[in-house]
Amino acid sequence: MATRRDSRKASTPVVRLEPMNAGHIPEIMSIENASFDDAWVRDAFERELVNDFSRPHVALDNDDRVVGYVIYWVAGPEYHILNIAVRPDSRRAGVGRLLMNLVVADAIEAAAEFVALEVRPSNTPARSLYQRYGFATVGFRKSYYRDGESAEVMILNLRR
Ligand SMILES: CC(C)(COP(=O)(O)OP(=O)(O)OC[C@H]1O[C@@H](n2cnc3c(N)ncnc32)[C@H](O)[C@@H]1OP(=O)(O)O)[C@@H](O)C(=O)NCCC(=O)NCCS
Repeated sequence: MATRRDSRKASTPVVRLEPMNAGHIPEIMSIENASFDDAWVRDAFERELVNDFSRPHVALDNDDRVVGYVIYWVAGPEYHILNIAVRPDSRRAGVGRLLMNLVVADAIEAAAEFVALEVRPSNTPARSLYQRYGFATVGFRKSYYRDGESAEVMILNLRR
């Protein structure tokens, strides 16, 4: 899967998706630390590489640089997005959409019933991305994040 240059960002490279491997982790850690105050540690990514129900993927540019990643779990009828981030200098160029397309297409192909995720109510970019796909808020997990912020639980219902 590839996306062409986005007219809004002249420097946007062609991007392709691949399963994550250990060689990607140093670049992932740099994106992760730039993206989250409560960033995952390296071990957490390494665990996902050997977790049978995890599907970790990276988005690579044409220089094989990691520009984004997504980690999702397949749990029976549920697909669950655990982590998604795009390199700060590659945002607003469609990489997030490409990663979401992968998850949703995989879930539809597997006849999953829904895709779920948690997001900070304060995270406007992420919430906007999910809303574009039709995710709806179904509840909140109180004090879910380390700093005490609650998580908004969003679901994309695939059984309409
Ligand atoms: C959320 C994130 C993954 C989006 O990635 P991205 O590559 O910039 O997203 P895209 O360019 O594909 O944008 C798709 C849509 O998302 C929404 N969106 C993305 N960034 C946005 C922003 N800063 N403000 C408002 N809406 C935004 C828009 O609807 C956008 O469509 P548009 O560009 O046509 O308006 C990225 O901002 C990121 O890595 N954030 C830090 C990590 C994070 O918060 N992850 C989510 C944890 S729940």
